[in-house]
Formats: sequence, structure tokens, C-alpha cells
Amino acid sequence: MKKLPLLGNITPAQFLSEYWHKKPLLIRQAIPGFKPLVSLDALQAMATKDHVESRLVTSTGGHWNLQHGPLEHLPPRTQKEWTLLVQGVNLHDAKADALLRQFRFLPDARLDDLMISFATDGGGVGPHFDSYDVFLLQAQGQRRWRIGPQKDLGLIEGLPLKILSKFKPNEEYVLEPGDMLYLPPHYAHDGVAIGDCQTYSIGFRSPSYQELGEAFLQFMADSIDLPGRYADPELEATSKPAEIPRDMLATIADELNKVRFTEDDVTIFLGEHLSEPKHNVFFTGPTKPLTVGKFAEAAAKKGLVLSRKTQMLYRGKHVFINGESFAIGRADKVTLEALANQRALDGAAIASASDDVMDALYTWYQDGWIELG
Ligand code: SIN
Ligand code: CO
Repeated sequence: MKKLPLLGNITPAQFLSEYWHKKPLLIRQAIPGFKPLVSLDALQAMATKDHVESRLVTSTGGHWNLQHGPLEHLPPRTQKEWTLLVQGVNLHDAKADALLRQFRFLPDARLDDLMISFATDGGGVGPHFDSYDVFLLQAQGQRRWRIGPQKDLGLIEGLPLKILSKFKPNEEYVLEPGDMLYLPPHYAHDGVAIGDCQTYSIGFRSPSYQELGEAFLQFMADSIDLPGRYADPELEATSKPAEIPRDMLATIADELNKVRFTEDDVTIFLGEHLSEPKHNVFFTGPTKPLTVGKFAEAAAKKGLVLSRKTQMLYRGKHVFINGESFAIGRADKVTLEALANQRALDGAAIASASDDVMDALYTWYQDGWIELG
């Protein structure tokens, strides 16, 4: 793989082996001349919507306050020390989506979203740590980052925000527009705005095993197959009718022990789980959808692109899109893997697609999961 200016002219492989999950990396001018992709008005408008996750953090006189969106009113720009944070901007803006996709040297299964923060002078969310890797790209003005590898991650109790009780930074950087700081999970950091400031956070997803386990058991509940019904032809009379019979317990334990899962079950579960749209993601199909024939014609001319909101993954013969899974044959696999990796298909690939693939594409088009190119 090529060296990427985005990573300070090292290859993704070098970045992964030296820094990822291990240590911070400051990249001066990761994106030279970088400017905000979304206007402040548009960002504020997003924060008023209830399907957009947003927060307002103020820290007047050392007193932390957190308000969750939708946010109708923001403090005046002349007021110091406030931060507006808007999550998932990539879902709502094409340029923000394109920026997030620059990080696709990492798998889609790990890439989460682009969060934009706007802060006035002195604004920030306080010294804290995150459980995820993050790239912090400066987009407007300056931000002073203080960071440190401390092991003591104890938090101040009773605050609405997670603030480290003992913050011991050992490095300090002032980031200018286009500069980017990578931080591994659990690395303590505090970013304070110097004047009006915008920071773009490219965030990652690492589900906890508890979350995965709970979701997996729900998934398995739909697919386990335990034939038969409890029976006790050898049952004996009892003088303790309230006691659960020992034999009953043993027989049922044996039967429940027959619950098995294969790697295929885990694959299907994981693909469906990781491609499931977040609770606040809604798709809107075309208002006047083309007929299936006209759709095929138009798609063969213009090609197709995945909607920004669509998550498409695959593994082996399984393809996953927005929480649904499909088992596919070898020929269709080539087409659908191309769609998943490129997030687009050209007209030629569509013209040669099978009827099954065309049926699926048409349904996804009607649902707003894919769009004409
Ligand atoms: C911010 O952009 O203000 C906070 C980002 C972070 O520290 O994770
Ligand atoms: Co953070």
C-alpha cells in the first residue's frame, strides 16, 4: 500500500504496526489547506434535529454542564467556553462522508462516524479518555491538546461529563487547520479551543463483548432448533411436591447443552449486527420510484451508489446490508463484493448482473439503500 500524506507519509501498514492501539501520532498538515466541510449554520441546524445526536458542553467558572440535543438555542458566539458536538455528520453531508471514507484503509466494520465539534475560546470537554481510537483533525482555528499515557483513569464523581480526577499530561501540541492527532483508546487527553475552533473526530467502533454476547443470544433465540418435549415415563411418587425433581433437572440440562453454534452462525450474527443501522438512522426511498424496467435501464447507464447511510459488509458467501443477510452464489458474489468495497457499481457491472442481483438492487433502490449514480 502507498504512503499516505493523511498519515504523515507512512503506509497504513506502518501506521498500524507502530501506532494503532499503541501510541499517539501527531501529523502536521495531514490534509494541507483543510477547511470546514460544513458551514456553522448547517452544523447548528443539524443539532436542532431529533434524529441527529448532539450535545452542548459549557464550563463556566469550572462548573461543567452538559445538555443533550435537539438543541434549539446555542449560547452567543461572543460567550466563551462552550462546545457544540454533533455526532454522525457523515450521515447527513456528502463531503463529511467522503472524509470518513478516506480512512477506509481500516475495515468498515471498525469505522464509526465523523463527529464535528465547534467551540468558542477556552471551550472543550475537559480532560478525559475515550474507549475508542480516534483521529482528531483540526478544521478551523487552533486547539491546544495536552495528552498523557496515565494508567490512573479515575473520574471525578457526580459530574455530567467523564472528567479525569487526576490528569497528568506529558505532551502538548497546538493544532492548526489540517493537522491531525491520532490517539489510541484510553489515552488521557484534553483539547482546549484557542479562539473559535472546529475539530473533526473520526471515531471507531469496538463493541463490548457483553453487548455482543447479549445480542448474540437474541440472534440465537431465533435460530436454535431443539426438537422434542420433556417427558418422564419413569416418574415416581413424591412426598415433597414443591421440590423440582433431580431427574427433571438433569434431563433438561442435557437437552439445553445441545444448543450449539457454528462459525457460520457467528458470521451471520456479526454481519447483521454490525450492519444494523443506528436507532436514529432512517432511509427515504425515491418519491417517484422508477419501474423495475426503467430502473435497470437507468442503472446500466449511470451505475449505482450506496446511500451514505448504508452499511454493507460481507464475509465468505454471506452479504450483509443494513442488518439483513443474504447467502449468495459465486457469480453474484463478485458483483456484490464490488458494490460493498467500492460503495458503487458501474453501468457495465449492472448490465451483466444476474436477475437475483437485479431484484435485490431494485428493492434496495426502493428502500433508499442505494441510489442511481
Ligand atoms: C472535541 O472535539 O471537543 C472533543 C473530542 C475528544 O476529545 O474526543
Ligand atoms: Co476524547
